[in-house]
Amino acid sequence: MKNVLITGGAGFIGTNVTRRLLELGYKVTILDCFLEQIHGDKQELPDDLEGKVRLIRGSVEDKDIFYKALENQHIVIHYAAETGTGQSMYSIARYSNVNIQATALLCDFIMNEENGIENVIVASSRSIYGEGKYVSEVHGEVYPNARTYKDVEDTFDVRCPISGKTRFDSCSY
Ligand SMILES: NC(=O)c1ccc[n+]([C@@H]2O[C@H](COP(=O)([O-])OP(=O)(O)OC[C@H]3O[C@@H](n4cnc5c(N)ncnc54)[C@H](O)[C@@H]3O)[C@@H](O)[C@H]2O)c1
Repeated sequence: MKNVLITGGAGFIGTNVTRRLLELGYKVTILDCFLEQIHGDKQELPDDLEGKVRLIRGSVEDKDIFYKALENQHIVIHYAAETGTGQSMYSIARYSNVNIQATALLCDFIMNEENGIENVIVASSRSIYGEGKYVSEVHGEVYPNARTYKDVEDTFDVRCPISGKTRFDSCSY
């Protein structure tokens, strides 16, 4: 079965993806620095993952650690990121180093080092995909407009840009 490296694999999405990959029989390595802002005092993987994955503690900013983790991997899922949108407005160098420069290190490794990586999955951002496309029974694929404060006072759900109904109204499924 294939080897998968998940950077940021101790986080919210990473732990859930890890559980599914283990069920499917993948061999999972997690590279995570257990950012205090995310993990607080609990600097450990969830109990159910302990002993089932290879854990490397370290930052994707550290080229030596990152490249060591990339050895013998077939698939890379790159989730490691500073995820505070507000903070990114003033901790610019830190956010740039982790979210951009480390991704460049990954690309450099794939281009310039001998490796067997077949697939790379990089997490996108709501800034890119917006409110998220969905399928309306009536209008097909729709791309909802960004919700305003007024919109969310009424209902949290996004509305079809054509009918104005929410995804859970009769307009869609
Ligand atoms: N959760 C969402 O709704 C959402 C939406 C859009 C995009 N994303 C993206 O998906 C990815 C995962 O999101 P999440 O919700 O699981 O975030 P999360 O904050 O729960 O997990 C991120 C993990 O990355 C680790 N990390 C941070 N900096 C690191 C570094 N320098 N080196 C190694 N590990 C580091 C953290 O310790 C944490 O475990 C992120 O890239 C995020 O931007 C998430």
